[in-house]
Amino acid sequence: MNKPILLADYRPYSHIIDTVHMNFDLHPTATRVTTKMALRPNAGGDLRLDGEGLDLISLHLNGAPLTVTADATGLTIPTAHLPDEPFTLQTVVQINPQANTALEGLYMSRGMYCTQCEAQGFRKITYYPDRPDVMARFFVRINGDLPVLLSNGNPQGAGMGWADWDDPWPKPAYLFALVAGDLHAVSDRFKTKSGRDVTLNIYVRDGDQDRCAWGMESLINSMAWDEQVYGREYDLDVFNIVAVDDFNMGAMENKGLNIFNSKAVLANAATATDADFARVESIIAHEYFHNWTGNRITCRDWFQLCLKEGLTVFRDQQFSGDLRSIPVKRIEDVLALRARQFREDGGPLAHAVRPDSYVEINNFYTATIYEKGAEVIGMLKRLVGDDAYAKALDLYFSRHDGQAATIEDWLQVFTDTTGRDLTQFSRWYFQAGTPRVCVSEAWANGTYSLTLTQTNPPTPNQPHKEAKLIPVAIGLLGQNGDEVLPTTVLELSEATQTFHFKGLSSRPIASVLRGFSAPVILEWPMANPAFLLAHDTDPFNRWESARALAYASLTATIIAGAPPLAALLDGLAALVQDDNLDPAFRALCLHLPSEDDLAGHLSSQGHIPDPNTIYASRRALVLALAEKLRHVPLSAKTAFSPDAESAGTRALRLALMSLQSRLNPSLAANEFATADNMTDSLASLSACLNAGAGQSELAAFYDRWKGDRLVLDKWFGIQISLSPPDKTASVTAQLTQHPDFDWKNPNRFRAVIGALTGNHAGFHQAAGYRLLADWLITLDPINPQTAARMSTAFESWPRYDTARQTMVKTELARIQSTPNLSRNLSEMVSRMLQ
Ligand code: TRP
Ligand code: ZN
Repeated sequence: MNKPILLADYRPYSHIIDTVHMNFDLHPTATRVTTKMALRPNAGGDLRLDGEGLDLISLHLNGAPLTVTADATGLTIPTAHLPDEPFTLQTVVQINPQANTALEGLYMSRGMYCTQCEAQGFRKITYYPDRPDVMARFFVRINGDLPVLLSNGNPQGAGMGWADWDDPWPKPAYLFALVAGDLHAVSDRFKTKSGRDVTLNIYVRDGDQDRCAWGMESLINSMAWDEQVYGREYDLDVFNIVAVDDFNMGAMENKGLNIFNSKAVLANAATATDADFARVESIIAHEYFHNWTGNRITCRDWFQLCLKEGLTVFRDQQFSGDLRSIPVKRIEDVLALRARQFREDGGPLAHAVRPDSYVEINNFYTATIYEKGAEVIGMLKRLVGDDAYAKALDLYFSRHDGQAATIEDWLQVFTDTTGRDLTQFSRWYFQAGTPRVCVSEAWANGTYSLTLTQTNPPTPNQPHKEAKLIPVAIGLLGQNGDEVLPTTVLELSEATQTFHFKGLSSRPIASVLRGFSAPVILEWPMANPAFLLAHDTDPFNRWESARALAYASLTATIIAGAPPLAALLDGLAALVQDDNLDPAFRALCLHLPSEDDLAGHLSSQGHIPDPNTIYASRRALVLALAEKLRHVPLSAKTAFSPDAESAGTRALRLALMSLQSRLNPSLAANEFATADNMTDSLASLSACLNAGAGQSELAAFYDRWKGDRLVLDKWFGIQISLSPPDKTASVTAQLTQHPDFDWKNPNRFRAVIGALTGNHAGFHQAAGYRLLADWLITLDPINPQTAARMSTAFESWPRYDTARQTMVKTELARIQSTPNLSRNLSEMVSRMLQ
């Protein structure tokens, strides 16, 4: 059991499948699935079909019944029975969607049928080679007495209780989808640049139609952007999106039928925050962009997951940057990268962007595969330049359209278009761990020298690593703030290298790793962060210098009880009132590093972080900042609009409001009372709670929103996130008793248990650890995917003191000894204990 799957074991499939005809007779507890495949021999050997939890009713080969016994994971038809020419195979199975709580395969969510097949859910629907390199044409007939019956591709006809769908594009099984329910469409149209008229539908439950406009606008923007920037057009007559309440992740790119967690698509001013609007926009774009990077060109095997995910994240980040603000988007992405991916890369779950072994593939939908995968593409683009990147992508699309490709294929198009040897660069794909780059400088006789040294730390199963090719973007500033050297990309390829800048009239000030040009940890005792905060011409590094000052200030407080750094407070005060700067950018500068960020930072500096000290020190800095900014006037409120500019103005206003409320809780209470949109409402409620008040506001919020699942998630989460550390576990435990705590719904589970793990000081204590372990053990039997994902809250345990380490290891051991633990959770736990 739990045998690892190895990249080295990849073999092509025995057969080619030309067409698949499926017939669904929907029934909540007894759905019948008939699958007729047209096959022909390929690599040879037995015919192995995957299948799990299926009740096999019949099997026919070329129309003749065949008796085979299925095992727990599928069935094998030995070569002796197989013609060495084209043949058909028909299976009939019965499944029980109602009993499917794991939310993979065909399941029911509040009366509607829906599917989730990535990565290996199709095998829970029918017997089939459930692997991405087997691509076939699908024809689907759905029978069921529900008004809306959907599958992939183009509608082919429908009547009372039936519908036919035909997908002209061969696809792997993981992109199959089916939805049936009492749904309502919000519709629009898009005309592609070559003139194809596409019908766009967002299907929702009755009552949610007024939350679809933003998703539709985002979809239309995504379709236009992909044509303009990547030359990619849509390729079907319809593009359908369905919102589902019970869903393990954000959304899924099934061909022509994207399925979304309702949280990732529904939004209006009353119920969604600015952050929600931005997330909906980027997830809609992400799933849409998969139509080319993922669907038309898919992955040969699941080790190549970053081929579609890294590239699609990179594309959605570019899209959001173009539509909003490139520097603000970059800062947000780096914040998320450090918070999730650096944390992962520095702990026991570290793995390569392209791993070479896994036990459970669902455990590899990680920040490393997605976000670091996107960073690697950003570096590649920086190294070859924008024009070469565009040429390489054109070649990628033309050469591999219709194929299941590999990372080697991807790198080859860059080699072929640029002539560049990417062997050293490819280590970014194969070696785990965040490189550290140490910077030192020298100045003599008009020459400024920067010495860069890289170290690549050991990670599980990868003790030794060679030097990577690291693009380090730098700029040089004069003492008066003038730019002496505009942004230049240095290529660090050796362990240590010195770069010289000659003929300078005075010693410059370096701005290093501009735009965060590589996902590394920079060790650079920045000579003058206050200077860079005031003068850097690179907005990312301007923000980064505020960050550096905040880390310096907080570290000194945490370790030595020092008061907040005046340079930080003065610098922020000047910046916040500089109306030449984008309000969204100013708001980001005001956000201090999170407690978890600080714990990671301290640990990387060789300290053992104490969560309570971090909590208290951070609060002290927030208070000092509030004092400093107490008289900065708040801008006037304007009518709500979800665009980036209005959101930025609101973000700055609310950041200041939250700070000032620490000194004046009635400000927050008043803001809450007058809020007319969810952004203001939630921010002011948070401010009330942070100021130690807010109980009546919480009650009012509940009364207003108790019928609304998505908003109620916020109500649950906020009380836990903002509870004092000594109360977090008990507040969480109490809320799990609340009648609205439906733990089988992943959104609600994440809202509550995720908020516990996100409250750093509240979680990192015996009661927090125990409560998480209890809930993972409870959830695992019904939804192993979500349980395994939540277990990563434990991944940072090696950072902490031995008492905490022991407590975590005890909880992990307790989970591990639970009978019938899923492969998902048991793999995670054993990797964390390794
Ligand atoms: N491919 C999806 C995306 O990145 C994510 C995904 C993988 C997923 N497995 C899933 C979504 C399971 C929902 C459930 O867009
Ligand atoms: Zn994706």
